[in-house]
Amino acid sequence: MIHRRLGRSGLQVSALSLGSWVTYHNQVDTAGAREMLAAARDAGINFFDNAEQYAQGQSEVVMGEALKALAWPRLGYVVTSKFYWGLDADGAVPNGRNTLNRKYLMQAIDGSLRRMQLDHIDVVYCHRSDANTPIEETVQAMSDMITQGKALYWGTSEWSAADIRAAWDIADRHHLHKPVVEQPQYHLFHRRRVEQEYARLYEDIGLGLTTFSPLASGLLTGKYRDGVPAGSRASLEGMGWLVKGLTDQARNDAVRQLEPLAAELGGNVSQLAIAWAHANPRVSSVILGASRLSQLKDNLGALDLAPKLTPEVMQRIDAITAAHAN
Ligand SMILES: NC(=O)c1ccc[n+]([C@@H]2O[C@H](COP(=O)([O-])OP(=O)(O)OC[C@H]3O[C@@H](n4cnc5c(N)ncnc54)[C@H](OP(=O)(O)O)[C@@H]3O)[C@@H](O)[C@H]2O)c1
Repeated sequence: MIHRRLGRSGLQVSALSLGSWVTYHNQVDTAGAREMLAAARDAGINFFDNAEQYAQGQSEVVMGEALKALAWPRLGYVVTSKFYWGLDADGAVPNGRNTLNRKYLMQAIDGSLRRMQLDHIDVVYCHRSDANTPIEETVQAMSDMITQGKALYWGTSEWSAADIRAAWDIADRHHLHKPVVEQPQYHLFHRRRVEQEYARLYEDIGLGLTTFSPLASGLLTGKYRDGVPAGSRASLEGMGWLVKGLTDQARNDAVRQLEPLAAELGGNVSQLAIAWAHANPRVSSVILGASRLSQLKDNLGALDLAPKLTPEVMQRIDAITAAHAN
């Protein structure tokens, strides 16, 4: 496993990391999480992604319990959380959801620390942007979390380039802690934001990326070719919004065309897709998702494929997929 700096910060994160969206609490219990965290760490992964909103806080509870049982030295792992949606799903409490205001953020970090049973979270993200809160207010609150020792670094997720730049400029002007990382969706069918919109930010402000959904929620495994398989993410309650995208005919045909190429390199399409995201040097870490240990082990095989992604192979991948990407 290689490690990369999180953007311009000095924090070293494994180039592949492991996330918990959809899986923890819903598909993976504490024992399962513990098993997967241990397997990931055995493979050199030191970076684990989470968010307040995943399973309404329960994903943090599961990860916290698993980490406690594993009892690793705190320096040996890096954990994240993200704030925006809040835990007030019904919207009963003003300031309880869909916000990055100071009141919400300052209680959100305390809630995450409690659920994870930690005294600091390494990286905290603004999970989306909030047009109803001045960016100054959000930057000050995120910076204060760091000053108070509750978090060490902060970043954004799915923010526009303009908003990231504005946040960085405000922090720079007022000598506050700057955002160091953005967490965008990035896979063979979703590229434009990372490759074009953010292009200027990598050199200008040293933006790092931790990218999510490298398999497009499972599409890039080939498992949705003949519809939605039982037990898959798209079959889960509340995930029906994914079905249209996952069963898209043109994209599934492209995945089929990738298969012989992946086989030629000695791997499968999932590994090829993960290795492709990892090949982008702007990506500090590709966040993997897995609902079971066998998937995680399979996906870690991407590391063996990575050195085989020559410019010629990248061109062949582009020729198959680029027309279907946004
Ligand atoms: N910041 C954000 O807004 C945001 C959004 C999304 C995700 N994330 C983070 O990024 C992480 C990764 O995203 P993701 O979970 O969407 O990643 P992904 O790699 O696109 O999808 C992972 C899912 O695909 C299926 N899968 C994975 N490997 C497989 C294999 N080898 N064979 C068959 N099926 C396989 C599993 O689902 P099933 O077995 O259930 O089908 C697994 O849970 C998340 O856990 C989260 O931490 C962040």
